[in-house]
Amino acid sequence: MKILVIGDIVGRPGRQAVHKLLGGLRQEYGIDLVIANGENAAGGFGLSVSTAHELLDDGVDVITSGNHIWAQKDILPSLDDKDMPILRPLNYPPGVPGRGYLTKGEVLVVNLMGRTFMNDIDCPFRAMDSLLEELAPKPPVIIVDFHAEATSEKVAMGRYLDGRVSAVLGTHTHVGTIDAQVLPGSTAYVTDIGMTGPTDSIIGDDAEAVIRRFLTMMPHHLSVGKGKPVMNAVLIDVDVKSGKASGIERITRETDER
Ligand SMILES: [Fe+2]
Ligand SMILES: [Fe+2]
Repeated sequence: MKILVIGDIVGRPGRQAVHKLLGGLRQEYGIDLVIANGENAAGGFGLSVSTAHELLDDGVDVITSGNHIWAQKDILPSLDDKDMPILRPLNYPPGVPGRGYLTKGEVLVVNLMGRTFMNDIDCPFRAMDSLLEELAPKPPVIIVDFHAEATSEKVAMGRYLDGRVSAVLGTHTHVGTIDAQVLPGSTAYVTDIGMTGPTDSIIGDDAEAVIRRFLTMMPHHLSVGKGKPVMNAVLIDVDVKSGKASGIERITRETDER
């Protein structure tokens, strides 16, 4: 089966890219399932109920997230709504709203978050071990969105889960990496998928505002950047019976602003 995984969708330009490109990509590649990281879909910060519905209406099957999932308070009830296919990272402490994994058809989708240069949440490696032990029956196809900052932690997670899941795909840095590969144990891996949002920006935010913040070290309001919307995604080929990945291909497409 073919699974498309879209990197962090940033603001309206990111949503426009999904709206304009996803239908065509689905047809072109015969895509069976679409997973997208939506943690920046609402104005660059968080995911609102309306932006979640927009993404789902445009063909996204499962929305994953990350550290920004708490930014829009109206989404919180939806995180516990079984009819809303939205995930927050699995390894937040117990008692936090929402869930870290769900099943869509034959595929188990897991959202996990790193700790290096990020909030000191529960260990993502042990959280994943516990989940894999608990699952009965364990579905063959398991896709992990690993939302993390440090390349070392991401590569380590890829290697740690190699042969135990179908794919470990990095999100959060918004800068795509060139290391998409199938690891020795048949797990598809990439350190970061890259963002889906405005090209004329600094990782999705207005370039001038971000530079000003670096120069002054004062907090500045950051707005979403400008320019053509770009979609960064990876397309994975997975055997439904064995769960083994046979390929991972990077897909980058630009579209018009309107
Ligand atoms: Fe992000
Ligand atoms: Fe993030």
